Parts: sequence; C-alpha cells; structure tokens
Amino acid sequence: MPAVKVRKERAEEVKRKLKVLGIYDGKRRPLREGLYVLLPVTDAEKAGKLGLEVLDVELPLRPERQIYKNLETVLRERLTEEELKYLRRYDIIGDIAVVQIPRELEHCVDDIVWAIRKLHPFVRVIARRGFHTGEFRVRELEVIWGEPRLETIHRENGVAIKVDLSKVFFNPRMKGERYRLAQLVRDGERILIPFAGVLPYALVIARYRRVHITAVELNPDAIRLGIENIELNKKRLRGEIEVIEGDAFEVLPTLPNYDRVISPTPRSVDALALTLDKAERWLHYYEFVHEDEIGAFRERILRECKRQGKECALRVKKVSDFKPHVFKVCADIEVKRKH
Ligand SMILES: C[S@@+](CC[C@H](N)C(=O)[O-])C[C@H]1O[C@@H](n2cnc3c(N)ncnc32)[C@H](O)[C@@H]1O
Repeated sequence: MPAVKVRKERAEEVKRKLKVLGIYDGKRRPLREGLYVLLPVTDAEKAGKLGLEVLDVELPLRPERQIYKNLETVLRERLTEEELKYLRRYDIIGDIAVVQIPRELEHCVDDIVWAIRKLHPFVRVIARRGFHTGEFRVRELEVIWGEPRLETIHRENGVAIKVDLSKVFFNPRMKGERYRLAQLVRDGERILIPFAGVLPYALVIARYRRVHITAVELNPDAIRLGIENIELNKKRLRGEIEVIEGDAFEVLPTLPNYDRVISPTPRSVDALALTLDKAERWLHYYEFVHEDEIGAFRERILRECKRQGKECALRVKKVSDFKPHVFKVCADIEVKRKH
C-alpha cells in the first residue's frame, strides 16, 4: 500500500493537505520512523505529483474503534440514549465476537446479539466476556449465541492465529503493536519472547523478518496451539521460531543472551530484572501503569539497568487503555553499553 515519507515536523501540514485532496488513507495508521513519518495514502500517483516521496509499505489498519460506533448506530433504533451510554467496545476474533455487557444492559442482551449479527454476518459465535484470570491469563467467557465453541482462526498482519479462548490468552487489539515491533526488528536478529502465548508476536515478526525467535510459555494449551500456528503459517514465515514449554523464571536463566527481548508480561508479574538480563541490545517490556506513575516506572527501569551495569536509553509508550487512568505501556529499552 502506498505511503508518503515526510520529516516529522512537516507531518501534520502534509496530512492536512492529503486530507483536503481526499487521498489520505484514514483506514491505516501513520508510522513514525526516526526523523520521518510514513503517512498512508490511497493514490500514489497524485501523492507523487505533490513532489512527495512515495513508498510501498504495509501500514497497519487502525484499531477497530469504528466498529463500536457502528454498533451504537445500529442499536439507536432499539436502545434509549441512556442505555447507549453503557455500550462498550467489542472484539472480533476469527468468527467469534467477544462482547462486554455491563449490568445496566443485562435486559438488552438480545438486542446486542441482533446488532452484532447484523453488522458481522460471518460471525458464528457471540461470547460475553468476563475478566482474565489465573496465571495463564485466560478470559472468562460465556457463549450467548451461536455454536458452542471458543476455538477459531484469527487473521492479522498477514498471519493466521489459531486460538481457543477457553484455554489461552489472546488480545486482537495488540495488532498494531505487533506490527510496530516487526518493523523495528532487523534481519539476522536473535530474539527471545517469554510469556509468548499462542505466538502472535513471534508469528508476525517471523512473517516480516528473517530472524531466529525463541519463545517460552508455561500454558501447555498455548504451546500446542503455538506449534500448530507455526505449521499453519509455514509458507509465509521468513524467520524461524523455536518453542520452549516451561516457567520463564526457570527457563530464561538457562538460555544465552539475545539481541532483542520482548516481554508481553502477564499482569502483576515482575519480570523486569529477568528479561533485561537477557537483552544484549533491546528490551520491549510491557506493563500496566497508572498515568501518575509513568515517571516512577521509568525510574525503576533505569535503576535496574544501573544495577545490571547497563547504560540504557528508554522511551515509554502508551499502548492501550486498561481502565480509567491505567494504561498498558511498552518501555522500549535500548542497551547502549555494558560496563
Ligand atoms: C499477557 S499473556 C501474553 C500472551 C501472548 N504473548 C499474547 O500476546 O497473546 C501472558 C502469557 O504468559 C504466560 N505465562 C504466565 N506465567 C508464565 C511463566 N511463569 N512462564 C512462562 N509463561 C507464563 C501465560 O500463560 C500467558 O500466555
């Protein structure tokens, strides 16, 4: 897909111009690359005529915020204004819709099912979501319509991901984040991914880059599905993925160091020292942080770098909302030097 490459200080101005000309592609996300920004466009020729550098790159689709708006629009004919306020975002994972229905909308379950089926005729299962529980971080789900199953194949970033939502963790909202990481990786890197789940990060990165990935996961069902996923995507993967079943806190100390470590850390687990220790060049560390505590999170990372004799630069990026004022963040930590 075409995109124009502009210096970051010109990005807003160029974006406005592209929008006025009707060739800005709002379905895709712009991407920051050092001093430049890649802006998605729908018409390479017109963009070229503006004297802009046009590239052919795969930019990720915007997160599905729009589908929530559509749900609201469809339900307008059945729900009151007051009820509409309680509608929440929902996810489409393969052919399963996962919806959150707050107590205030208990009496509207049939309407919500009707609206989702109208918006997504290909959906075969609608499940109502509860919380992630246990050390495997599996979400509590109850099928409220359709076939009695929670297994499906989800497609994102050019890979197919088999999941069984009754047995493993999977978050489709991390699609853009997986794409971002894949773009940071260079061919030839050795990468470690503890807490790897059914391998969504590993598959997307290996799809784009010729790398060697070691993935560590404790949940035997995630391991089984992860191995199936490698097979399922065999023809599309440029990189190799090796899977190790076990507790990251026991397995990692037995492994060598890696160019890059990616830690999709489970909530309430502190794996910072463990994962930083394995990172020769980069660590991408995910954590849930209150917005008032981002400074303290940075300090904690810098203290750990110092303790390990590493000189680090870091950038903390908000990745998604978790609950009011609490975000899932990713710390991109670059190890500049080791004393
Ligand atoms: C937040 S989920 C992330 C999964 C996957 N990376 C993804 O994004 O879909 C955390 C994963 O870590 C796994 N896990 C929890 N404790 C673990 C441990 N001590 N060692 C290895 N894996 C663990 C869980 O089973 C779960 O699959």
